[in-house]
Amino acid sequence: MKHGLFITGTDTGVGKTLVTAALASLLRAEGIDVGVMKPVESGCPRQKGKLVPQDALFLREAAGSEDDLELINPCRLEAPLAPSLAAEREGVEINLGKLIECFQTLKERHDFILVEGAGGLLVPLKERYLVSDLVQLFQLPLLIVAASRLGAVNHTLLTTRCAQSLKIEIVGVILNNLEEEGDTASRSNPHLLPHLLEVPLLCVIPFIPRIHELKKEKLAGLIKERISLSVLVGGPEQSNPDPGIS
Ligand SMILES: Nc1ncnc2c1ncn2[C@@H]1O[C@H](COP(=O)(O)OP(=O)(O)OP(=O)(O)O)[C@@H](O)[C@H]1O
Ligand SMILES: [Mg+2]
Repeated sequence: MKHGLFITGTDTGVGKTLVTAALASLLRAEGIDVGVMKPVESGCPRQKGKLVPQDALFLREAAGSEDDLELINPCRLEAPLAPSLAAEREGVEINLGKLIECFQTLKERHDFILVEGAGGLLVPLKERYLVSDLVQLFQLPLLIVAASRLGAVNHTLLTTRCAQSLKIEIVGVILNNLEEEGDTASRSNPHLLPHLLEVPLLCVIPFIPRIHELKKEKLAGLIKERISLSVLVGGPEQSNPDPGIS
């Protein structure tokens, strides 16, 4: 069995949290003790003077984790900007040592760990230190979430090729539909991408109407119905669900 996954996106707002939460929920339902981490979260709203890391809270709930929020999300920033920039503006020192310490603690505590990055693979966390450096430090394979729209092929290949050039293992790509009305690009991406990618296109997640009303039980189904868990966590081959590609 692998010991975790690092979930990155082709961009910000492409569905990383949705996919990570769905996976956490599925692993939990399958009896796997899963830990979650969102090392750095920017764009946190301030409530009663405190920053509220919404991704981290959502992931914590999906995983049924009782870990301290400070461990799951050691660094939170208010501005919806690249972490390095938000931190500079807010006078916050991003402590890379602390991120590693929290990761090690969670990794030791759980059988499997899911880490959601910030934005895409080359987003700066601190000065010249990028999300990709954190992936390498954590030594986790990458799961890439791509928004299935015009530009997705380019963004996905840029991301996979960048990861490959850094010798980062890639588990595969998940195409996610963020728009209700699929256009020609979103319909053709699932057919075009497999011819160009050197890694598996794992599944296509459809647009989910009224996503904020999505029941917890349905969250796990988003992955369970489309990807065999063994592809993501390792272990013995399982029957292949319908990835929704053709
Ligand atoms: N398949 C889908 N159908 C409908 N809405 C979706 C779908 N996937 C994601 N969304 C919505 O799109 C928005 C962005 O998704 P999400 O927060 O998972 O992206 P992200 O990549 O984690 O963003 P960030 O870079 O801010 O962490 C959210 O409001 C989410 O509920
Ligand atoms: Mg997110």
